[in-house]
Amino acid sequence: MSETALRLGVLASGRGSNLQAIIDAIEAGRLQARIEVVLSDRADAHALDRACGHGIKAVFVDPKAYAARDLFDSAVVGALRAHQVELVCLAGFMRLLTPGFVAEYRGRIMNIHPALLPAFPGLHAQRQALEYGARVAGCTVHFVDEGVDTGPIILQATVPVLDDDTEESLSARILVEEHAIYPRAIQLFAEGRLAIKGRRVIILDGDRVRS
Ligand code: GRF
Repeated sequence: MSETALRLGVLASGRGSNLQAIIDAIEAGRLQARIEVVLSDRADAHALDRACGHGIKAVFVDPKAYAARDLFDSAVVGALRAHQVELVCLAGFMRLLTPGFVAEYRGRIMNIHPALLPAFPGLHAQRQALEYGARVAGCTVHFVDEGVDTGPIILQATVPVLDDDTEESLSARILVEEHAIYPRAIQLFAEGRLAIKGRRVIILDGDRVRS
C-alpha cells in the first residue's frame, strides 16, 4: 500500500450520499485517501454541505458563468489540477464530461451508476430496470470514457428485484450496495491494483504501490 493518501476530487450535483460513504470510509480507515476538493455544478447541492461539515473544501462552479460546456469543464479541470487531484470521483454528477476533460484524466475518473451496466445506462436506471421486468438489479463502479456509462467496469453488486418493489424501494436497496462498492473500488485504485486492459479491468493481487 502507498505511504501517502490518494488525492481525490469529488464531483457531485445532489444529495451526496455516495460522497458521504467515501468520507465515512476514509474516516474509518478503510480507504487510504484524502478528499482535496468537492466541486458541484449546483449551489444548493447537499453534497457541498456534507463536505463543509467534514472540513473539506467545497466549491460551487456556476455553469451559467461559462458560455460553453468545454469552458465549464476547463474551469473544473483547473480546480482539480490546483488541488493536485489524482483520481476524480463522480458521485451523482449530472453533467456529461467533455472529451477534453476525459483526455486530461483518462483512466483516473470513476463513476457510480445504479444499474448493472451495460443494462440501463443514463437517467432513471432503477426505473428502467423495474419497467423492463428485470429480476436482478444492482450498481456498477466504472472508469469514465467519452460515452454515457460506457467505460470499463471495475466492480458491480447485485440486489434482487421484489414483486412489490417501487422505484423508491429498489433505489434504496441498490444505494446500500453503492455505498459499499464505491469506496472499495477507490481503495483498489489507491493500492495500484486496477489495470485497464481494453474493456476489462483486471484486479491485481497484493500490495502494489501506485505509480
Ligand atoms: C446515485 O444513485 C448514483 O448511482 C447516481 O446518482 C445517484 C447519486 O446519489 N450516479 P448521491 O448524490 O450520491 O446520494
